[in-house]
Amino acid sequence: MEIVTESILLQNSLDEERAKGKTVGLVPTMGYLHEGHVSLIERADAENDLVVTTIFVNPLQFGPGEDLSTYPRDAERDSSLCLDAGTNILFRPAEGEMFCDDVLTSVNVSQLSSGLEGLSRPTHFSGVATVVSKLFNLSGPCRAYFGEKDWQQLQIIKRMVADLSYKVQVIGCPIIRGVDQVALSSRNIYLNDEERKAASIIPRVLREASEKINAGEAKAEIVKETILDALNMSPQLSVDYVELVNGCSLEKISTIDDQTRILIAVRIGPARLIDNINARLGLSSP
Ligand code: PAJ
Repeated sequence: MEIVTESILLQNSLDEERAKGKTVGLVPTMGYLHEGHVSLIERADAENDLVVTTIFVNPLQFGPGEDLSTYPRDAERDSSLCLDAGTNILFRPAEGEMFCDDVLTSVNVSQLSSGLEGLSRPTHFSGVATVVSKLFNLSGPCRAYFGEKDWQQLQIIKRMVADLSYKVQVIGCPIIRGVDQVALSSRNIYLNDEERKAASIIPRVLREASEKINAGEAKAEIVKETILDALNMSPQLSVDYVELVNGCSLEKISTIDDQTRILIAVRIGPARLIDNINARLGLSSP
């Protein structure tokens, strides 16, 4: 595995590899890797000749008061996980390599970015879209792998690629969960044992909601109320939102169908956790 820290070297070496006929799989991350990230790298490895994993804690996507300075980092462990999972090139941009202080350009995928996460994080998705757009330009034509864990992010990136004609095929990958079914996240490290136990309520209520839907409930409002009631039972959880939306447009729906996605954001102690499922398929959502 080669570690590349300069953008121009990444661009040049991927152009060369593609000229030889090689396909590129790109896995953008912010590091502090876990089995969720590893699943993306392994999938990219299975489907491409060359896997590029990127690790960059992107300041543009953190709002004031968010955890940019304390975001967990472990460069050595990340390198070894990348290597084991099949990464060929680890792009870890040096300080100042990605954005200079006065970056003027931003990519904004309006509508999809304003609701859900966007309500409490109004600048987050333009930060994400801008950095991912730059990574796509550094990588060039490729398949790019993103987790369904960040469902709204995945829809935004798919839309950006369609709207701006990137030569990138975006591939959504299933959520990897712990033994307690909590979705893996770099931020789970912020939870103590008791908070982690409380976090397991999230996948439980999602599973129960999907069971209720499969038993015949089709009214979004009723399912939403049931979920809110269950989450509010725990004094450790503070609900940010529970929404039933069309999985692609992210518009709120009233009658549940095959496209319905249930999205949840909850604060537990110092952490803010998000999770989602397909309403009919439940935790086993592809
Ligand atoms: P990060 O949170 O590091 O996540 C990198 C990728 O891993 C994202 O596509 C995310 O959805 C996926 N992922 C995280 N947890 C997962 C899980 N439990 N199962 C499956 N996939 C999971 O998302 C970002 O970084 C950033 O916003 C980024 C896209 C890199 C732009 O800065």
